[in-house]
Amino acid sequence: MKISVIGCGYVGLVSGFCFADSGHKVTCIDNNDQKIKLLKDNKVPIYEPGLNELLLKNIENGNLAFELNISENIKDSEIVLIAVGTPTGKNGDANLTFVYQCAREIAEFISPNTQIIIKSTVPVGTCDEVENIIKENCIHSEFSVISNPEFLREGNAISDFINPDRVVIGTDDQTNKRIMINLYKSITNEDKILFTSRRSSELIKYASNSMLAMRIIFINEIADLCEKIGADVTDIAKGIGLDKRIGPHFLEPGPGFGGSCFPKDARALIESGKKYDAPQTLLESVILGNENRKKNISKKILNKLDKQTENQIGILGVTFKAETDDMRESPSLIIIPDLQENGMNISVYDPEGEKEASKILKDVNWKKSAYEAAENVDCLVILTDWEEFKNLDLDKIKNSMKRPLIYDFRNIFDPDMMTELGFEYFSIGRG
Ligand code: UDX
Repeated sequence: MKISVIGCGYVGLVSGFCFADSGHKVTCIDNNDQKIKLLKDNKVPIYEPGLNELLLKNIENGNLAFELNISENIKDSEIVLIAVGTPTGKNGDANLTFVYQCAREIAEFISPNTQIIIKSTVPVGTCDEVENIIKENCIHSEFSVISNPEFLREGNAISDFINPDRVVIGTDDQTNKRIMINLYKSITNEDKILFTSRRSSELIKYASNSMLAMRIIFINEIADLCEKIGADVTDIAKGIGLDKRIGPHFLEPGPGFGGSCFPKDARALIESGKKYDAPQTLLESVILGNENRKKNISKKILNKLDKQTENQIGILGVTFKAETDDMRESPSLIIIPDLQENGMNISVYDPEGEKEASKILKDVNWKKSAYEAAENVDCLVILTDWEEFKNLDLDKIKNSMKRPLIYDFRNIFDPDMMTELGFEYFSIGRG
């Protein structure tokens, strides 16, 4: 099929590249000329494992192209897939400016019978509004708007796209259903497709992300309790996760959730609840609990230090999680400035995050390795669980630190082993 993907962010690039790799002819379009220039030079503008290889392969076989303008470039596309950003708006709701702008622009150029797929995360009713906008601006009325939210995790995005737990498609129309089965047939089995109404499909994305965010804040609060009462959160997560009704995933405590989805989507769902007089009180606590968690991390670290004599801190990992360069809503954006306000000097190493993070984090000393970040520090703080951190030469780390104090907010090491190695080692919820 001939597909145009509008928006070259994580979702647009991963969807576009994976559809191209499954044999479709894909044009990725974005109005950011620098992004398009990079892509045309065979460079991926974000760090996501595997994307570079897919880009080269599908440029080579002619399945992938890039364009700056919607205009003529979407003519003859059977599918126009909208994957533009829906950032948090002024009141916490989703800002739909880019989606609606995109709807207005494509209306002029789509051919009859085009399927417009909304992959961006959008509140209930947005597909209806997109349909209205296109109707007002299009010379023909043979088009369909279908909701098809994306559930990929950054760092794991390609695998999530080609091995989905489910593909949610919001449409009631039988012809649309057949076209969508055809679109996905080389990616996944038909039995993985869940057809729902458009409105249900839109809400599934928000409910799914909000449910996962709830689990994380729950285990984080249980971890706090474990520290106070001398229990081990790893055992608690295992113990509750073995109950099939609960399951083992998304029960790892950490410094608070971040990223482009969980905080934004939970806030947007709270706003939808207010709008329709169906309060989402649980989620309000989730957002508050997560913000407080990020703020409390620096206090935990500072409590371990003698502020008169100890003010050098090394940080390992600043992105919101491992295997990405994404800094959006990363806990480090709260933790590092808090530490600096308390007179701490900060050295940082992140395997992929420096370029993005150095645009936002000020006055930090960027280091080229974990070993350099540990040199002469009074405390080493682990904020993300990059694989390379798990395989460090810990003797070398210890010998280069001024004080062998490690605060591990991802629980990547075994506490007994760390004590044996001579570290003062603190992790989360392993009282
Ligand atoms: C998420 C959803 O998982 C994905 O389905 C959706 O489409 C987009 O949002 P992503 O934001 O890329 O994906 O990352 P994810 O792996 O879900 O992690 C989100 C945040 O939760 C990160 O800050 C991560 O560190 C944190 N997290 C995750 C935990 O603290 N503990 C866990 O057990 C899992």
